[in-house]
Formats: sequence, C-alpha cells, structure tokens
Amino acid sequence: MTLLAAATAVRENAYVPYSRFKVGAALRAASGTVYAGCNVENVAYPEGTCAEAGAIAAMIAAGDTRIAEVLVIADSPDPVPPCGGCRQKIAEFADPSVTVTLCTTDGKSRAMTVADLLPGVFTAAHMDRA
Ligand code: THU
Repeated sequence: MTLLAAATAVRENAYVPYSRFKVGAALRAASGTVYAGCNVENVAYPEGTCAEAGAIAAMIAAGDTRIAEVLVIADSPDPVPPCGGCRQKIAEFADPSVTVTLCTTDGKSRAMTVADLLPGVFTAAHMDRA
C-alpha cells in the first residue's frame, strides 16, 4: 500500500469533534511495513493527539523502530505541515534526510526532509555530558 493511500484512508477515521480538521499520517518503517494514524481529539483539548503521533505509536507497538518515509494529508489550502511537537517526535525515529511529504486532499503536495522541518534538532548527543 502507498503512503498516500494509507494516510487518505486512515484520515477518514479521525476523531475531530472540536476542530473538524481531519488529518491522516502514514509512515514506512525501515522494514517496509506501512503504519498509519489519525488525529484523536479530546474534550480536554491538550489531551488530543496528532495523526503523526498515532502512526508512530502504531510503528513502535508493532516492533519497528526506524522511519524511512512519512506522508501527512489534510483538507487544507496548502500542504499541511507537522506541528512542532510532531517534528520532534518524527526526528526521534528518522534520519535528517528522511522525506516528509505534505499533502492536501485536492492533490497538492510538497516534499521536505526531517532536517528542513526541524533544523538544529535536539538529540541525545546534546546530553553526552549528563
Ligand atoms: N493535527 C495533526 O493531527 N497533525 C498535524 O500535523 C497538524 C495538526 C491535528 C491536531 C488537531 O486535532 C487538529 O489537527 C487541529 O489542530
């Protein structure tokens, strides 16, 4: 299954009674397996989770640990970028060169890398003296 097909399909299941903004994310792990996630909101707004976080949780739960490629889709005027927190979550499991494709449901897309999205990323190496 392509990342676009997986993210488009899972987006339909997004639980978004508050924002009404459905997001789908799909990632291909280094093993080749595709994992998908959608946003899941909560009446206590900060408890909601992003689509990217759902896809990463599915990957880790299944036993994969490295991301080879990511795609995010929403019904947005411009290709939807991962939020700041999700950029850090993706960077935990992806090399800086990994492609993140931002998509709209009407066919626009923009390819970026993890490094484009999060320059100067905080990594475990920054804690080497701890
Ligand atoms: N959202 C995502 O799921 N991923 C993104 O990359 C951007 C934002 C969700 C969070 C919330 O449910 C809704 O979109 C509006 O912010």
